[in-house]
Amino acid sequence: MKSLLEQLRARIIQEIESAKTQDELKNIEIKYLGRNGELTIMLKGLKDLSAEEKPVIGKFANEVKIDIDKTFKGRAEVLEEENLAKACSNDDFDTTMPGTKFKMGHLHPLFQVQRDVERIFGQMGFAVIDGLEMDSEYYNFESLNIPETHPARDMQDTFFIKDKYHDFHKRMVMRTHTSPLQVRSMEKYGAPLRIIVPGRVFRYEATDASHDATFNQVEGMLIDKNISLAHLKGVMTEFLTRLFGKPVKVRFRPGYFPFVEPGIELDLSCLLCDAKGCRVCKHTGWMEFMGAGMTHPNVLRAGGIDPNIYQGWAFGFGLTRLTMMKYNIDDIRLLMSGNLKFLNQF
Ligand code: DAH
Repeated sequence: MKSLLEQLRARIIQEIESAKTQDELKNIEIKYLGRNGELTIMLKGLKDLSAEEKPVIGKFANEVKIDIDKTFKGRAEVLEEENLAKACSNDDFDTTMPGTKFKMGHLHPLFQVQRDVERIFGQMGFAVIDGLEMDSEYYNFESLNIPETHPARDMQDTFFIKDKYHDFHKRMVMRTHTSPLQVRSMEKYGAPLRIIVPGRVFRYEATDASHDATFNQVEGMLIDKNISLAHLKGVMTEFLTRLFGKPVKVRFRPGYFPFVEPGIELDLSCLLCDAKGCRVCKHTGWMEFMGAGMTHPNVLRAGGIDPNIYQGWAFGFGLTRLTMMKYNIDDIRLLMSGNLKFLNQF
């Protein structure tokens, strides 16, 4: 049996080494090592050997198998390399042709704009702050100079969490704006302060093309000594000009928000008609952009900052609205629809 094995080994190895293609190699494997292959059958015969022969021949058979496996692997590698070399030198094979494209996702348009906002304010020295989407009535209203009985509470239809949470902080609410982060940040970091707070906010509202119950805002706040609205005008003009990549002007109009005094509304020159007047800006040359103002002394005090030493301003704009302006989107509901036909355009 040993000599039979030896002969077979020699034959198999010789055949493997003269195999010219991977297919030939595969056939040799089936012929000898397959379920009914010659070597397989011979190895099955080992069990009929006598007790003395079995360990000796068994060991030898094992060595034969290892030899053959090694030769197989070696030849397979050689053939593979030859194949590759052939393919590369073959005139029909264009190595410069682009390969299969991977499907790549991309950022949602809202977050593309959010990233730009964060980058530009970051360049101007503002820290980016993250906040809670559910906060207390105290931070969402009271600390911002909006007492319980104040009619300004009606300006923002609120989702309340049912159970009372705390004597002082009252109920929890889904924040109606990013403004709760004003007092929270003053408490945490003190003055001077320069922050922006991008985040989701919630209003109990019926949805239509320009309203959604969930949308995104960006709050901004700057507190330091000798601060005035002139700084706000400078910062916002620079921010919008960098964001849109062309000169943008801003103007102030009086506005009312309980947490600022004086309060203003900030408009920007119409992006579509360069302030000449068109349908989108209703022929005024201006587009409404955000609320802002000098931080009310009560709000500074709530944040533990002395209004006799520090002043500041704050603003809040809709990131959702900004995104719609930037990409000319006319229905807010598309943004959170998860509709890929819509999203893949950005
Ligand atoms: N929180 C206001 C809103 O959601 C926007 C706002 C107005 C924020 C004036 C401010 C501000 O910081 O000073 O309608």
